[in-house]
This record gives sequence, structure tokens and C-alpha cells, in this order.
Amino acid sequence: MKQDVVISQNLQKDLQQAISRCSNDKLFVLTDTTTFRLCWPVIKDFPYLQKAKMITIGATDENKTLQTLSFVWEALQQGGATRHSLLICLGGGMVTDLGGFAASTFKRGIQYINIPTTLLSMVDASVGGKTGINFGGLKNEIGVFNCASTVILCAEFLRTLDDYNIRSGYAEMLKHGIISNTENWAELITFDLDNIDYPHLQQMVAKSVAIKEHIVEEDPTEKGIRKALNLGHTAGHALESLALAENRTVLHGYAVAWGLVCELYLSAKRLNFPKDKLSQTLQFIKETYGVFTFNCKQYDRLYQFMQHDKKNQSGIINFTLMADIGDIRINQTATQEEILDMLDFYRESMGC
Ligand code: GLY
Repeated sequence: MKQDVVISQNLQKDLQQAISRCSNDKLFVLTDTTTFRLCWPVIKDFPYLQKAKMITIGATDENKTLQTLSFVWEALQQGGATRHSLLICLGGGMVTDLGGFAASTFKRGIQYINIPTTLLSMVDASVGGKTGINFGGLKNEIGVFNCASTVILCAEFLRTLDDYNIRSGYAEMLKHGIISNTENWAELITFDLDNIDYPHLQQMVAKSVAIKEHIVEEDPTEKGIRKALNLGHTAGHALESLALAENRTVLHGYAVAWGLVCELYLSAKRLNFPKDKLSQTLQFIKETYGVFTFNCKQYDRLYQFMQHDKKNQSGIINFTLMADIGDIRINQTATQEEILDMLDFYRESMGC
């Protein structure tokens, strides 16, 4: 069944419709401790959820483990779930990734619905069927591609998010703008994140998700064009790993934004990505995300992180680069010298 993405104005009605698309004998709702407190109250009085069984796991990425997965499997088993039961995942990327994986593997797969509650999960994690857990110290190491039957995007949750979480999710929207067209990109870099116009943001979220859906439909298992969605992530993941190793708190989207600065520079060097668009994007990122600082003694470590990225093949670092806004070039490589030059550019241009 094709994944249905619903931009919801009426969650009670849209969730009911989503549930009725998947004939089921029992309903389960997965939350983490935060979404249980803040988001479950929004839906808990819906009449058709009165018999649903709750499963609540610890919040944050540290809980995206085999142990938590096992806890969810046990809760499904003890709650009497069958192959015809349905799991509703209510939460951010951790809940939808782990819940999607639990559903995809329980009795060889039960159906699930995602109700993402963070901007990051609305525009990225909950759409497109990447599910999984962290394992052996590596993020999303174990998982499967298997789409939720429906993803319901509800604007009500956007207003509950703090500034950091809005900005973090917004970086993935910026990425979608860069890989799509100049109009979307220009709209994103001129949007005022200090005084958010929520109805406008909701329209931009819908556009952003449509860009991702279109790419995922073409290439669900990332053999080709889905790699476009990795723009900013090769350098971004390295910066995120460095931050983690040094106990510096960095939200995923912030690392992606800084990764975009690096990779658009590489795009300008290798593919003549226009310099004016590089500098406008860089300026927006600097103003919106501030600067992640590192010095040249940390280059080796960053390079090693890039070498261990799971998107690489045979140890060759894989980038998605851009010849222009909307002109995507997947499967690009760069020499070590070019990568070090890219890090120099980041530090000089960002002023660190
Ligand atoms: N987060 C990138 C993808 O879903 O492919």
C-alpha cells in the first residue's frame, strides 16, 4: 500500500480515517515520556482510542536501543497483539523510527501510523519508511525500509515546539529547498524564524514533505536519487559525531545546516555551484544556527568520521553535491585535500 501523507486540519477525523484504512483487531499507541505528557492529551479523548493500549518508552536518542525495542515487542505480545493489530507512533524521530521498526518486525510485520510531533520528524524522519535503532555505538545501524500506512502532519504540534527544535527541523526543509528549485530555496532563506507565521510555515512544511515524498516514490530504498536527501549530511554527521564525542549538545538539524555550508562550498569548487547562492545560503545559516567551532587539530578526526559514514562504499567518501539549486549530482567524491580545504572554508567563512 502506498504511504498516505495527510496534512491535517482535523486530527480526530483524519486519524479515524487512517485507522479505518488498516483493518485491525487491536490498537496500540506508542509514545515516549515527553510525548505522553505533552501530545497524548491532544488525542486521548478521541472515542475510537478508548480501548487502545499505551506503550511508553524513555525519551531521547539514548533510548533508541535494542533494549527499548525488546520492551515494545514485549508490550505488544503481552497486550495480545496479532498480525492484524495496528501501532500508532506519536512522537519525534526516535519514536517513529523505533516504533516503525518494532511494527515492521513484530510477527513479520504489522501496520503502523505515524503522527510526528517535531518539525524534524514531520519533514523527514516519519516520511519515507526508514525505520531502525542505534546499535554498537552507531546511529540507525539496524533497521528496515518499511513505510507507515499513513503519516498525519498536524500543525497543532508545531506551536508546542521550542525555537531550537523548530530551527533543527527547518534545516531539513532548507535542504529540500536547495534540491528542488530556486523559488522554494528563496522562500526558505527569507522566512522570518524570529516571528513565525505558523499558517505560512505549515504551507512550507506541506511543500517540503511533498518534495521528499516525490523522491522516495522514485527510489524507496536509496539506490539512486534518494541519495539527494543526503545533501549536507556527510559533513553534517561528522560534525554531529565530533560534538557527541566532546559532549557538546548539537541538534541534528543544526549539524545538517553547518554540513550544508561545507557541501555547497565543495559544490562550488567542483561543480561551479553559483557563488552568490552559496553566500546567501551561508549568511542565512550563520544567522539562524550560529557557528559550531573546531580547529585544524580536529580535521583528522572529522575526516575519519566522514570515512566511516554508512553511505560510503569501499571506504570512498560519498557526497551529494549541487551544480545549482535543483541540479543534483549524487555519488560525488572528493580528495582528502579538497575535504580539508572545505573545512578551512567553513572556519574562515563562519568566523571560527
Ligand atoms: N533522511 C533521509 C532519507 O529519508 O532518505
